[in-house]
Order: sequence, then C-alpha cells, then structure tokens
Amino acid sequence: MSLKRNILDLRKRKEEVIKGGGEKAIEKQVAMGKLTARERILYILDEGSFHEYDMFVEHVARDFDMEKKTLHGDGVIIGTGTIYGSPVCIFAQDFTVAGGSLGLMHARKITKIMDHALKMRVPLIGINDSGGARIQEGVNSLAGYGEIFFRNTLASGVIPQISVILGPCAGGAVYSPALTDFVFVVNNISKMFITGPSVIKTVLGEEISMEDLGGAKVHAEITGNAHFYAESELECFDQIKKLVTFIPWNNTQKAQPMKPAEPSPKRKIEEVVPGDPKLPYDIRDIIMAITDNSEFFEIMEHFAANVVIGFGRMKGETVGFVANQPKVLAGVLDCDSSDKAARFIRYCNAFNIPIVTLEDLPGYLPGVDQEHAGVIRHGAKILYAYSEATVPKITVIIRKAYGGGYIAMNSRHLRADFVFAWPTAEIAVMGPEGAANIVFRKEIAEAENPDATRQEKIQEYKDKFANPYVAAAKGYIDEVIEPEETRKMLLHALKVSANKSVQGPAKKHGIPPF
Ligand code: HXC
Repeated sequence: MSLKRNILDLRKRKEEVIKGGGEKAIEKQVAMGKLTARERILYILDEGSFHEYDMFVEHVARDFDMEKKTLHGDGVIIGTGTIYGSPVCIFAQDFTVAGGSLGLMHARKITKIMDHALKMRVPLIGINDSGGARIQEGVNSLAGYGEIFFRNTLASGVIPQISVILGPCAGGAVYSPALTDFVFVVNNISKMFITGPSVIKTVLGEEISMEDLGGAKVHAEITGNAHFYAESELECFDQIKKLVTFIPWNNTQKAQPMKPAEPSPKRKIEEVVPGDPKLPYDIRDIIMAITDNSEFFEIMEHFAANVVIGFGRMKGETVGFVANQPKVLAGVLDCDSSDKAARFIRYCNAFNIPIVTLEDLPGYLPGVDQEHAGVIRHGAKILYAYSEATVPKITVIIRKAYGGGYIAMNSRHLRADFVFAWPTAEIAVMGPEGAANIVFRKEIAEAENPDATRQEKIQEYKDKFANPYVAAAKGYIDEVIEPEETRKMLLHALKVSANKSVQGPAKKHGIPPF
C-alpha cells in the first residue's frame, strides 16, 4: 500500500470508531437529552487540545456470542488535553456502545489513563455514563472496577480527581466517583444508585423512579454524594472548567495565581450583620465582601447549607473558605455539615490551599436525632481535619462562638495561625439565656420577680462573657478588628504564613473518625 492509501485507510478506520454504537444508539442518546461521549470531551477541553489514545482497542469477551460483536473503543474514550492551558487526563464512557458497560479492555483503558494522570501529576476527569459491570464478562468486569478503585485511592491527595455523572452510574460503579474529590451531577441526566428500582421492587416490593432514587437533586441535596449540581450538561462543563482554575495540578504545587483584584465596592461588609444578634444574615455576603472581584465558587451549595464551603481568591491566590451560615439552622454544626466541612478542609490541606474560617454558631445541634445519627463521631471529623491541617489556617469570629463550636471552628487550640474577632464576637461556653438559667437557677427561682432577675442575670453574663475581650485577654484571639479591616488583616496573615512549615510526629497515618 502506498503511503497515501495507508493514510486513507487510517482515516477510514478512525471514522468507523467515531461512529460509536451507531446511528440508532446515538439517536437514542440524543433523545434522552444527552450529548455523546466525544462531544462532552470536546466541550470540556480547550479547542483542538484533545488527543485520543487506544481508539482501536476492542473487547476480548468470547461468551454469550460476544465474539460476533464489535464494540468500538470498547465503550470508553480516553485521552489528554488542556483546560485554559492546564493539562488534564480524561475518560468518557460511551453509552451508545453496549450501554457504556465495563468489561476487561474498557477497564484497562480507564486504568491506563489513570496511571498516566498519576505519573504525570495532572488532574483526572472521568465522565460516567454506563450500565455498570458488563454482565457477559463476569468476574473480569468486577476485577476492572477493583483496579479502578485501587487507583482512585492511590491518587487521592496526589492529583485532583473529578467525576462527572452524565447517565446511569449503577451498582459498584458508584464507588469510583465516591472515592474522587469532586462529583458533578446534571438534572434529569445523572442517575446514581447501588441497587436500581427493579431490584428494590423485587426485594422490598417498593416502587420508585430512578430520578427519585438517585437523581441529581437527590445527591446534591440529600445524600451529599454530589458537590456540584447543574441544570444542563453545558452548565456542568462550565463548572468543571471553573473548578480547574481554582485548584493546583497536583499536591506539590499551588493553584495558578490569577490577576489580583479588589472586591466589588458595592459589597459593604459593615452592613451585612444585623444589629440584633438574634437575627440571621447570609455569610456569603461577608465572603464576597472579602474576595477578589467578590467572587465565591461555592461547593455543595444545596447540602448541609448550615455550613458554607468553597473557593475564592485573595490577591489572585486561591483560598478555601469554611463558614457557618447563620441563616440556616443558625449555622450549627451537625452530622452532615461536619462531614462536609471536614472533607473540604482535608482537600485544601492536601492541595496546599490556605483555609479562612468565618465563625458564627451557637454550637453543635442538640437532640436525640443528632445523637443517634452519630454527631459525636461525625462532629469529631471537623476537629480532626482542622487539627491535622498544616496549611495556613486563619479564623475570623464574626458573632457567636459558643461551646464546642468555638473549639471546632479552627480555634487557636487546634492550631489556628491567626484568630481575629470582630467587636460583635461573643465567645462563651453557651448563650447568655441558657447560661443564666443554669448558673443562677436557684437565685431566679427564689426571686420575688423571677423574670426580672433572669433578665438581670442574662445581662450580667453578657457583660462578662458575651464579648471578645475575655478571650483576647488570654491570648486566645490575636486581635479584635473592625469589620472593614477584615480583608486587610487576612491578606497580611496569608502573606506572612506563605512559607509556613510545621512537622507533626512521624506516623504511617492517623485514624480519623471516618
Ligand atoms: C452489558 C449492558 C449493561 C451491562 C446495559 N447494557 N447495561 N450490557 N452489561 N451491565 C446494554 C443493553 O443490553 C443494551 O444493549 C444497551 O446497553 C443499552 O441499554 P438499555 O437497557 O437499552 O438502555 P436503557 O433503557 O437506557 O437502560 C439503561 C440501564 C439498563 C438502566 C443502565 O441498561 C440497566 O439496568 N442495565 C443494567 C444495570 C446493572 O444492573 N448493571 C450491573 C450493576 S452491578 P443493546 O445491544 O440492546 O443495545 C455492577 C457491579 C460492579 O456494576 C461491582 C463493582 C464492585
């Protein structure tokens, strides 16, 4: 064959593979409101940057007449490319080819690109759209999943791992996304569950739709399995690209700095917190009064909203924010919000992202439900995460810092590098009302006018403890600052802690309260 004919042959072969599962299957994919695997990759990556590998890989199954079937690329596309110039490795399961089911060669392609990402120390993006383990390939499919889970774990904390659920992700397949750092879901498209509706019907006799069982909203709002929720695939791809700008390529680097900018002058930090300490406000208004361009990229916005987490930039550098949200459950810590914050703190610590904590909470959520759901075990996670974190850790106490909440939200005692408090801060073992009722119970009960005495005692307690000065006198906070000074103080603290270096005792690893 002449070179020209060889080239034409190559092109023909590629065209064939690009057809995926064929016209009918693609039509079905489109009818479900889904993009194809290739389209998805091309939307996410910089134009012209995608390079595909293992295009001609075929399955090797021989049972159930599988030898008669051609499965182009064995139902998954792998390759490398860039996002805003930063290199990434990527794979996308192709549902049009045998339902994106995972057989031996399909798994080998995924593990190949995972190995590449880890070796090259660049982020990995995995797009899941699959019927799960390829039934005809039996234990080879299970082995494939095991190999993927092992690599997810190996790469954890070394390179960022991003999972995108754009179709079914059923059975054990869900555990790869669950082992990664960020999971993206899209309304009406993502379906994620261990046992599907038909199994539930057979075993439990209950009828439930896929959407109600494991749709995007379920995972964004109830289970906490998803970190980002979008209404469309294109919105989801924008979120992924934005996330990549905030995180480093790997754990030896810092995120690429952006051009420094000031917060919007429209954001008046002094106007956010109401005069009455009992009234709620939106903590995000404080974050956006501090960050460059008043930009805040929130993570897990719809889950455990009593704690807010996400990325912002200060003088161009990525900062992780952990904040109580007074307008939801008064910003308390409970099982879910502790899990949410703890995982994010560990992410920031693994990837060299300084943490700014904004504190305003009455403590851990009381009640039988929480106790029985394991608030001791879950609540301990946040203590553990802050204590072990060695990145710069700065706290600003805005208003309430009561009880266990005071300690847990990156207090000096868990080795905060800087603790600032606004003059509105109230640092105490509990709120004045509860404290007065307990400490002065006898006096109040025996008083001629118990209500007046109670008010007197509440005021006495407030004067004594509900301010930042008792803690300041003991050096537990470093400075009482005016709200307007917050950004300036944070910028200085971040600057002086840029080369922070601390070494804990040598150990294989700790035993966090998982
Ligand atoms: C082989 C599969 C497959 C699978 C789908 N297909 N899932 N082939 N193994 N697991 C094939 C179908 O036979 C069909 O092929 C094509 O993909 C499209 O599937 P449809 O059923 O027509 O699509 P749809 O109606 O959209 O339904 C999608 C679905 C359903 C909900 C995902 O296919 C389904 O329930 N699949 C099985 C899901 C499952 O139970 N998987 C195993 C989970 S256990 P043709 O040739 O007709 O086009 C598991 C264990 C992992 O994953 C453990 C790891 C630790």
